[in-house]
Amino acid sequence: MNKWDEKAKNYTRYSPSLNTFEANVVKTLEKMGVDFKNKSVIDVGCGTGIYTIKIAKIAKSVVGIDFSINMLEALNEDCKKLNINNIKTRHSTWDDFKLNNQKFDIAICTMSPAVKTDGNIKKFHECAKIKIYLGWAGVRDCTILDELFLAHDAVYSAPNGAKRVKNWLETNKLKYKIENFEELKIKKRTYKEAIENFSWHLNVRGINPKINKVEKILKPLCDNAQNITEQTINKMDLFIWK
Ligand SMILES: C[S@@+](CC[C@H](N)C(=O)[O-])C[C@H]1O[C@@H](n2cnc3c(N)ncnc32)[C@H](O)[C@@H]1O
Repeated sequence: MNKWDEKAKNYTRYSPSLNTFEANVVKTLEKMGVDFKNKSVIDVGCGTGIYTIKIAKIAKSVVGIDFSINMLEALNEDCKKLNINNIKTRHSTWDDFKLNNQKFDIAICTMSPAVKTDGNIKKFHECAKIKIYLGWAGVRDCTILDELFLAHDAVYSAPNGAKRVKNWLETNKLKYKIENFEELKIKKRTYKEAIENFSWHLNVRGINPKINKVEKILKPLCDNAQNITEQTINKMDLFIWK
């Protein structure tokens, strides 16, 4: 099973009131002069459509690509509820997706490993006039993750898609604008959800979670209602280029 299909079950969904981080991203895009009004947009690794739906409300049309069918089902379900008709979803990896010479006004990729290799970044660069990339910048400070990885004889390191994109842009001598974000994320989950979530992080990095080790770390963190509140400090970079 695609690991992102599992993640889709509890992944954040679009809400008109974005959380502080998402609202900050949207505000920063406006500040950086991005205007989605009447534009054709491609959202690569769109997930449940937190940004896709927000953009579709302003844009002419949006194509959302994702290789997780469950993520796309959530997105389509929300579009139906909200009566949004200008989003087309495509179930594909970014590698396999056929552009057929189509060129968009804006391409966006947020927090997705879909745009990863030099080839992926080049394809992303060539498919639109304006490119927006928001990605991990190598910091996800979370004591629980650190402890869990150590218990599995591994070291957790946060993804760093931002570094790859920056290197690619600089190698190709392309001018870009960049904004840095820091987020303090506080998330409450039930004990069961926390086990699923942290096991997922091990799984996605090819580590088989040992349930006794996961439980040994998580159980003492439960409050009286058997919930676990995790705090994470994340760093992300936002790039815009033509
Ligand atoms: C962390 S989620 C981000 C979703 C959304 N962009 C957001 O900001 O909320 C990453 C998404 O990228 C998708 N994804 C990962 N690798 C991909 C690939 N190679 N091709 C297409 N989608 C991919 C996953 O299925 C998942 O929905």
